[in-house]
Formats: sequence, structure tokens, C-alpha cells
Amino acid sequence: MTIGIPKEIMIGEARVAATPETVKKFIEDGQKVIIEKNAGVNSLYHDEDYIAMGAEIVASPAEVFKRSDLILKVKEPLFNEAENMHEVDMMHKGQYLVTFIHPASPVNHDMVKKLAEAGVISLTLDGVPRISRAQNMDALTSMSTCAGYKGIMMAANDLTYFMPQMFTAVGMLKPAKVLVIGVGVGGLQALATAKRLGAITYALDIRPAAVEQSTSLGAKVIEFDVPAELAVAEGGYANNLPKEWLEKERQVLSEVIDEMDIVFCSALVPGKVAPVLITEEMVKKMKKGSVIVDISIDQGGNCEITPPGTKEMKHGVMIQGIKNIPGLLPTSSTWMFSNNVYNLVKYLIEGDTMKLDMNDEIVRSILVTYDGKIVHAGTKEAMGIA
Ligand code: NAI
Repeated sequence: MTIGIPKEIMIGEARVAATPETVKKFIEDGQKVIIEKNAGVNSLYHDEDYIAMGAEIVASPAEVFKRSDLILKVKEPLFNEAENMHEVDMMHKGQYLVTFIHPASPVNHDMVKKLAEAGVISLTLDGVPRISRAQNMDALTSMSTCAGYKGIMMAANDLTYFMPQMFTAVGMLKPAKVLVIGVGVGGLQALATAKRLGAITYALDIRPAAVEQSTSLGAKVIEFDVPAELAVAEGGYANNLPKEWLEKERQVLSEVIDEMDIVFCSALVPGKVAPVLITEEMVKKMKKGSVIVDISIDQGGNCEITPPGTKEMKHGVMIQGIKNIPGLLPTSSTWMFSNNVYNLVKYLIEGDTMKLDMNDEIVRSILVTYDGKIVHAGTKEAMGIA
């Protein structure tokens, strides 16, 4: 198979889908790898290192898309301004695509339809189930680790005061209070990082297991007594809460949100639009100068007024909706991502072709478009397709 690695085009995206190390492994497995010129330069992986491992460097994205059987990317296909063409329009029927598609997010629905129309067989990394045999393919977990760490660093950077308690000759400065909503992989890393920076940490989640893990990291728990049978789905994942319970949760949050300096939003139900837990009215109640980092923005955001893809001051609160936070930690995130992708592709390739077993849980969870159709259950639900 020819595996193609285009340079990422999202603004500020420094990651790339392969390192010289994973190129070496693909080539040892019998595949051919072509990489767009300077694709890895911003994450400090250089063309000469890819060439040394056996890759071919090509000048244009169009050539990568044209010649490859399988495209490996980091972010969803986007409009390429320099080429004046959408990345999907560079793809062809029967071509495989492995990337983060975030297909349930409304902003991506048109692109997903284009993928289906183009006959691309697309597989989304955000669908990899959290089961033990898929752990080493789980790029979302890797990226959430990066986003939890870097997201707190970004929030701390936007505060106009210290995070830790400071005892100085002129008096004592109080530590910042950090609330993490949704303590999955990203949220736990955010709690740990905020704690290391000296903040007082608070956590809210609907899964009892997540609450327990956050207390072991020293966080105080924001009590929200939602019945476990409503909150936890099969396999231990969170459920989409019924409307009335989401309303109760917003009330609980309303009572504490005005004390917080940083609110880190990472509540997500896999494959679904993120629950809206902070309304504009709640933002108005927050301290001036406080910061919201909404890392669930790829799924629509936990805060109603998070600006997608950027940061903006609203009602005196800095709200960050930066979409590619792991891209701001590119050497580590690329290293983790490319190893996850290598493990997934190795699992799906047989000899020199991709083999999709439709009865396999991993395949069923990641397949978005196939045979000209959208086949991903969460995406169809989000689009309102039967
Ligand atoms: P996860 O699935 O491990 O954790 C999500 C947590 O939210 C779970 O513990 C779940 O119980 C909780 N949750 C669900 N509904 C809730 C509710 N109503 N109230 C409180 N908690 C609730 O997810 P992970 O891997 O930690 O990722 C979190 C989010 O961060 C996702 O939206 C993911 O796509 C995003 N992310 C964003 C990045 C960026 O650059 N912006 C990078 C990496 C991840």
C-alpha cells in the first residue's frame, strides 16, 4: 500500500501523522510512504530524517492525495487556501482516510457528506473504543493527555495573577481556584497539572469512578447526585443526561462558578455533541479576569458562548475555544499520535490491503463513511438521519 502523509493545514497546527520512527516501521512492514515536503518541520521531524528511514518526499499535497491508497492525517479535511481546493476534493473513490474527523460535530457535517459523496472510506480516531485491546491505538486518550496539561498552562498564562499561594514581604496572595468539569482523561490531567501549579482544585463529573479518581488527585468534589443508572452507560461510559438533569447540573454549577478563577471544560459523551453546562448567564456571573478553557469545542463546546477555534474576552471572562491544543505541544503530541496511528493501521492492514471486519467493535466504532454512505451511528443521530 502507498501511505500518504500530507502537511496539516489548520492554522497553528504543527503536528504531523508520522514520525521517522513510524515511517521506518511501515516500511519494514512492506508499505510505501510518501510525505509532503516539510510536513513535520513544525514538530521538529525533518525531511532528511524521513528520507533516511525510506520515505519519499513530494512537493504538493495534491500529489500525496492522488498517489496514496491510505491518507494519514491529524485533523479533519479542510479547505486548503494555498491550493484553493478542499482536501476532500483532492481525494478519490476507494481511498482510505484515517484522522480525527469529529463527525458528530455540526461544523463537520457538510464535510462528512462530501467524504461519502467522494466514495472515501473514512475512519475516525475519535471513535476508537476505550477497550484494553485498543489502548495503544487510542489517539484521543493521548491527545487528551496533552490537552489537559497544555490547556491548564494556557489558562494560567491568561490569568493576571499567580496560580499558587504566595507568601511575600508585602503579604500573602491567595491561590487560584480551578474547576474541572468532566474528569475523563483530559480532565484528570488538567486537575493534576493545576495542582502541581499550586491551585485549589475542584471536580465535577457524573460517573462515580471519575469522581473517585479526582479525589485521589486531591480535588474537592462538587456534589451532583445524579442516579448512576442515568449517568453511566454500558461499558462504563457517560450517558447523555436527560434535559431536566442537565438543567439541575447547570443549577449546581451556577452556585459555585462565581468563585472560580479557571473553569476547564472537558465533559463529553463519546460520539455525541458535548453537553452544554455553562450558559451565557452563568458566564456573566463569573469573576472578571477569570478564564474558561473549553476543550470540548470540537464536539460543540460545554459553554454556550465558547468561540470555536479561537479565544475571546466575553463579559470580562477570557474564553478559550482553541481546537488544536495538542498542536501547541507538537513534538510530544506527534510522537504519541503517530504511534497510535501506526498501531491502528497495523491492526487493519492485511498484507498490502486494508481489511475491514464489520463485526469488529473497533471497526464499527471508527468507520464514518463507506460505500458512498454515512454509516457512523453517532454521526447519523447528530445529523438527524434515520
Ligand atoms: P473522556 O470521555 O475521557 O471524558 C469525558 C468526561 O466527561 C467523562 O469522565 C464523563 O463522565 C464526563 N461527562 C459526560 N457528561 C458529563 C456531564 N453532563 N457533566 C459532567 N461530566 C460529564 O474524554 P477526554 O478524552 O477527557 O476528552 C474530553 C474532551 O476534550 C473531548 O471533548 C475531547 O474531544 C476534547 N479534546 C480536545 C482537544 C483540543 O485540542 N481542544 C484535544 C483533546 C481532547
